[in-house]
Amino acid sequence: MARISPGDTLRVMLVSESELLREQVDTILTQYAGEHRIFWVTQPELAPRRAEDLLPHLVLIDDDLHGAPAPHVVRQMVLAVPNAVVVVIVDEHGMAVARQAVLSGARGFVTKPLMAEEFWSTVHQLLTENRMPDEPVGQAIRVGKVVVFIGPKGGTGRTMMAVNTALAILEQTGQSVVMVDADYSAPALDVVLNLEGERDISTLLARASRLDKDLVASVLARHTSGLQVLLAPPPLYGALEISLPQVEQIVSQLRLMFDWVVIDLGALLDDSGYAFLDSADYVVMTVLPELVCLRNARLLLDQLVARGYPEERVWIVLNRAGINGGVSKDDIEARLHVHIRHTIPDDQPLVSLSINRGVPLYLSHRRSAVARAIEEFAAMFVAGTTKQAVKTDHPVEAPAQPSSNPLSRMFRRFSSAGAAR
Ligand SMILES: Nc1ncnc2c1ncn2[C@@H]1O[C@H](COP(=O)(O)OP(=O)(O)OP(=O)(O)O)[C@@H](O)[C@H]1O
Ligand SMILES: [Mg+2]
Repeated sequence: MARISPGDTLRVMLVSESELLREQVDTILTQYAGEHRIFWVTQPELAPRRAEDLLPHLVLIDDDLHGAPAPHVVRQMVLAVPNAVVVVIVDEHGMAVARQAVLSGARGFVTKPLMAEEFWSTVHQLLTENRMPDEPVGQAIRVGKVVVFIGPKGGTGRTMMAVNTALAILEQTGQSVVMVDADYSAPALDVVLNLEGERDISTLLARASRLDKDLVASVLARHTSGLQVLLAPPPLYGALEISLPQVEQIVSQLRLMFDWVVIDLGALLDDSGYAFLDSADYVVMTVLPELVCLRNARLLLDQLVARGYPEERVWIVLNRAGINGGVSKDDIEARLHVHIRHTIPDDQPLVSLSINRGVPLYLSHRRSAVARAIEEFAAMFVAGTTKQAVKTDHPVEAPAQPSSNPLSRMFRRFSSAGAAR
């Protein structure tokens, strides 16, 4: 998939040797499209491969490419990213080239010199027509909420909380829930949900430029509870490499398919970790009542706030509260100036048993103190997040306006006009 969805930043690939053209396109997009990224490729033979990696929503092909006829480049780009909008930019006397380009699969053409209004109205119309096929015009569509679970260090109970909270949300709301195992160096959802041997995200990465609902659905593992899961591959050859556009494409597609997308995120080591965080509507941070963890929690929270993350969308949960020698909730709140939304009691035998059996305790031990605490947390969370709705009825307007996702843009690693020669 390379179709624009709500909250997406418009990604544009320009295949041209002209720096002037790049500047002109950038100026027009800044004026009309708001947030966008341009990937500039000067060598047409490299363009298809780059497009498969960068997954642009829009591909602009200059007809003035030495040695490479524009219709031929159009054909290659359509094969590489079939769902992108491909537009050729032709000389004002280049109608024959434009016609051939359209016959080769271009959705349209614009003429040089670029006229800002005309250019944008053509591009905007084509992107609008290219919305997801099952999105009816003007009607409300499902745009699921993305909840990312993080921990200031390993072993804080992030996976335990994410899985059991997802099950509680599923039960309490009756809505659809998908989980993503985004801890690529130490995946765990296959074990804790007993889903071994299922397909995983690597199938999607290999075909990210052709992502659609059916492909994603075919890769998801189905748990007997009704929860669906996008598993991580076994970490046999080191951590999996996922690019920022791939994360955006996959999360966008899941948002359209599910009411809740619950992500178990590993340590923030690379761009893909930040990309998952960037897609979040809410963050749940699990902390333990011990000093090292709390010090790191404060640092992580400061980092989030410094980048403009709204603190009220970061929900801190104190796990293993009441453990012998642990710091008390009041102490933590007073010393670290954080608001702890909920506490989960300590029960090592039960949590270990549940992990080892591959049956989440929310299903097997509903009356336990841990399950009940998670049930309460999920109820609070659902109520709290419903007040701050993130749904939008106008996905088509996404390219014309800055993202409405309050957490997006905080972790952007690309500049808006990063050249990709
Ligand atoms: N409420 C709890 N009471 C007792 N033990 C717990 C509790 N929550 C988690 N644990 C224990 O902490 C360990 C880590 O839990 P979990 O795997 O959920 O954390 P994590 O943050 O996802 O860890 P990792 O960084 O390895 O991914 C497990 O051994 C589990 O048994
Ligand atoms: Mg984990």
